Amino acid sequence: MAGEAEPQARLPTGYADTKFCELRWSRDNAAPPFANVSIFLDLGRAGHPPEPGGGSLTPSLATICALYGVEYDPAAETLWLTEARAGGGRLAPDAGGVLPLVRGELYSVHVSEAAAALMVGGCYRIKEMLGALTEARIRRLSAAFYRRVYAGDPRFRALFAAGSSEAEAVANQADFLVEMFGVTAHNTQRIAPDGSRVDRDAGGVETTGTPYSDRYGEGQLVPRTISKHHAALMKMDNAAAWLGYMMEAIAEVFPADAKAQRSLGLYFGHFLAFFEFEPRERERLCELCQRVTAPPEQLPQHRL
Ligand code: HEM
Repeated sequence: MAGEAEPQARLPTGYADTKFCELRWSRDNAAPPFANVSIFLDLGRAGHPPEPGGGSLTPSLATICALYGVEYDPAAETLWLTEARAGGGRLAPDAGGVLPLVRGELYSVHVSEAAAALMVGGCYRIKEMLGALTEARIRRLSAAFYRRVYAGDPRFRALFAAGSSEAEAVANQADFLVEMFGVTAHNTQRIAPDGSRVDRDAGGVETTGTPYSDRYGEGQLVPRTISKHHAALMKMDNAAAWLGYMMEAIAEVFPADAKAQRSLGLYFGHFLAFFEFEPRERERLCELCQRVTAPPEQLPQHRL
């Protein structure tokens, strides 16, 4: 109708208001975020099943903890959300543990001081991991993981062997992790260790290789990987098997390094947080991801 303005999109281009909400790490948090400041969470289209490549239809506090690399503890409030636009108190989950997130809305993500202290002292942020863990050890991790997968449960092995040889699977995963843990931001801003924004051209960022994009094309890091993880694959039994092998591989390659173990576990939980799991399943995934077998390091002194 003439004179009627188009409704204004509330989220940035590329994130439809009818599917996504935006989560934004609060500036009041005493730690910089594990991943990006803003995370756009695909809540699925109303009334539709999850689409290929993910979406979280039943987001819970454990899901948001996983997204932001915050350890989930059912006995302690490590993280909470508030509606950024409307203001107001902490968002309460429903009786089934699901947070009533609304498509097109913006939420602030807050963490407790104890959780922030653990993030600062007890784990690396995603973009620090290449430097801290080293490319050689990341490649050994992928080799240790797929050695277990290809020698393990035949049903699970078949999921991978159908598409790749063991060597190809190792190269795909290792190239992805090296690039993801390095400098190539796949969507938003780069953050310095003190939490400030880093200007790419100001020379403040160390440049690393981009082995995955070199092979599969610029911009393929996330889309190509997501396309390998359709909804039927991303089920609880598969996720538990995947994490079982991966946590063993982490213990093999980083046996005495609690900080590396915790960081990697949290990263794999972060990846899985973009896929649909029910609240109970998500809690179990957090438990699996948060298993640290190395002796406790000096920092931080306390647990959540
Ligand atoms: C439920 C858990 C998971 C299952 C069942 C699963 C399954 C698979 C399968 C079947 C492939 C294809 C193998 C191939 O053809 O090369 C694959 C590839 C891959 N997965 Fe997963 N995955 C899971 C979790 C993860 C997680 C947590 C990560 C985090 C890094 C991850 C990263 C990748 C990467 C980077 C590739 C290679 C993509 C490519 O071929 O370019 N996956 N996964």
